[in-house]
Amino acid sequence: MNVHVVEHPLIAHKLTMMRDKNCNSKNFRELLGEIASLMTYDVTKDWETEPVEIETPLEKMTGTRLKGEVTIIPILRAGLGLLNGVINMIPHAHVGHIGLYRDPQTHKPVEYYCGLPKQLDAKCIVVDPMLATGGSAAAAITMLKEKGLHNICLMVLVAAPEGIKVINKEHPDVEIYTAAIDRELNDKAYILPGLGDAGDRVFGTL
Ligand code: PRP
Ligand code: URA
Repeated sequence: MNVHVVEHPLIAHKLTMMRDKNCNSKNFRELLGEIASLMTYDVTKDWETEPVEIETPLEKMTGTRLKGEVTIIPILRAGLGLLNGVINMIPHAHVGHIGLYRDPQTHKPVEYYCGLPKQLDAKCIVVDPMLATGGSAAAAITMLKEKGLHNICLMVLVAAPEGIKVINKEHPDVEIYTAAIDRELNDKAYILPGLGDAGDRVFGTL
């Protein structure tokens, strides 16, 4: 399976705080951003670098910089909660937005926005806290591929086994990074134990 569980005591500690139903929106947002920054370390650890000539105050040297362009693509709305944490680590990244919501009856994704930067050869990190049925992330990745973007990975906070299967089947080229794999979906396609509705908790629309 193309899935990496990003295991770190700080991530596990912060995620547990977020899962608690008494965690308010302010704390939820802050913790989500902090985990996103920590996860970025793992997502980027095999990225290609290239040499760059610079001058320190004392002499010339050959340093290292990331090779190529990077685009971060939050799936609206909850994906916005991960954006700052990732872009703080990769400040030169471009940002694209994909607007999708799950129809409450069918649980299928409904598209309402797509705005992407022009850099088609960029490495893309699609970010969304929840991978439940996988429908939203799979549709977002299909939209990116249709626009010509192909170097794509997916960063989520909590993944259900069902969603991982869907991404692996529909997009076997896409590596998934998650802070946790939870047990299952309930009959409303919410992740168990999960953390509830991530968008509502980020934006205080409960
Ligand atoms: C949530 C979440 C994902 C999607 C996951 O978004 O942020 O985008 O559900 O579910 P899936 O894997 O079954 O598609 P939601 O549709 O609630 O929209 P929101 O971000 O605007 O709250
Ligand atoms: N979307 C969420 O925000 N939470 C879930 O558990 C499933 C989908």
